[in-house]
Amino acid sequence: MAASVFAPWTDPDQKPLIEFRNVTKRFGDFTAINDLSLKIYEREFFALLGPSGCGKTTMMRMLAGFETPTQGNILLGGQVIDDVPPNKRAVNMMFQSYALFPHLSIWDNIAFGLKRESRDKASIEARVEEMLRLTRLTKFALRKPHQISGGQRQRVALARSLAKAPKLLLLDEPLGALDKKLREETQFELMDIQEKTGTTFVIVTHDQEEAMTVASRVAVMDEGRLVQVSTPDVIYEAPNSVYVAGFIGDVNLIKGTASARTTATVEEPEAPTQPAENTPSAAQQERTPRPNSYGEWLHDTLLSPILGKRVEAPKPKQLPAPTPEETATAKAAEAPDIPEGGLSLKWADGEPDLIAVNGDPALDGKEVTLALRPEKFSISKTKPTGVANAVKGKVIDIGYLGNISTYHVELPGGLMVKSQVTNTRRIARRDITWEDTVWLSFTATAGVVLPE
Ligand SMILES: Nc1ncnc2c1ncn2[C@@H]1O[C@H](COP(=O)(O)OP(=O)(O)O)[C@@H](O)[C@H]1O
Ligand SMILES: [Mg+2]
Repeated sequence: MAASVFAPWTDPDQKPLIEFRNVTKRFGDFTAINDLSLKIYEREFFALLGPSGCGKTTMMRMLAGFETPTQGNILLGGQVIDDVPPNKRAVNMMFQSYALFPHLSIWDNIAFGLKRESRDKASIEARVEEMLRLTRLTKFALRKPHQISGGQRQRVALARSLAKAPKLLLLDEPLGALDKKLREETQFELMDIQEKTGTTFVIVTHDQEEAMTVASRVAVMDEGRLVQVSTPDVIYEAPNSVYVAGFIGDVNLIKGTASARTTATVEEPEAPTQPAENTPSAAQQERTPRPNSYGEWLHDTLLSPILGKRVEAPKPKQLPAPTPEETATAKAAEAPDIPEGGLSLKWADGEPDLIAVNGDPALDGKEVTLALRPEKFSISKTKPTGVANAVKGKVIDIGYLGNISTYHVELPGGLMVKSQVTNTRRIARRDITWEDTVWLSFTATAGVVLPE
């Protein structure tokens, strides 16, 4: 991965700006935060995501100094800050209700915190002007809060929070009061301002799309614990649990019993009589299995930061030319090029097993869930060939959203799944409709196998 990618959490030499060390917070005998450890790095835009009551605000309040941990420590820049009062921390918290002073102008609202420090007038003026420019509020400087829009008030609150140049800005549901369109615009503004100032942001949101949009990393919480902490793409593409998969975006969950795939036998369920590429020649067996382009992408973006780069095995000097029979059978069968290993999943009686080459063979014999995003399915009216997984179903419902359509498909056994298709064709040219029998197909790496 290129050195310019911002990923300090992958570098063991990087010192975190914030560290939670085995922090527990109890209110009476209720445990709100449970033995939680976490590192957040300078310049990160870090999002805390989780259902109401999971402890997000409690985390923020401990960072700001309004609550102290019952056990464990919080460090800021390497120093334990548990006994440092809120106003002595280089931390600012922007609350959901912006709490602007209604009788003060925008200019004076932004200057308020600066005036309470013993700063000289010229430096206060320069700083307020800079914050007005940053948040594009210069021409509203002399107005009162009720004379500007909700989105502009939100930017005033942000300008005021950033005026004292905190190391860390805490934003607890900052955009909750804005309507959807303004909310989306403001997300990009927040990212822009965060980048320009280099301040570390920790944002709390219950909106998973918002977290995915703004954050360098997302922490998914449940009942006072961190379930997964990772970049948005990993959280989406490689959730570590059914909980995370279900929390972020739409997902299809197919339950079944796993069997480890033995490396030598790759079954082609449809064409058992045809000797095809699934009985490889000696020369082919010598070759290392190569991932397809999706596999390459998955490896480069997700796995290589964790596992290191794939080592290319030296290619055999020359493969023997295929015999005429080999060429003929290969063309006829179009057997899928499924990499070896992983798991197969028995999910419905009388249906071919599903193949997930990225499944952990150690789950052999266990009940597991295959999590598949709706956009990973290809949908067709005829049975596709050359695919790892194809299941037959019936279209029950179609949701048309303009740019995308969602097909609700009933699979054998009654499981309902969603398949999402980008509409590149005009409506009249799309031929799948209600009650149609369709095939949903997906690659051997499209899903994620999660233990029950
Ligand atoms: N001061 C308090 N006294 C008692 N219980 C509290 C207090 N603050 C928070 N809690 C409880 O701790 C849990 C986590 O709260 P909070 O951090 O506000 O959740 P979130 O922000 O994720 O919705 C909730 O069950 C809440 O009722
Ligand atoms: Mg909260």
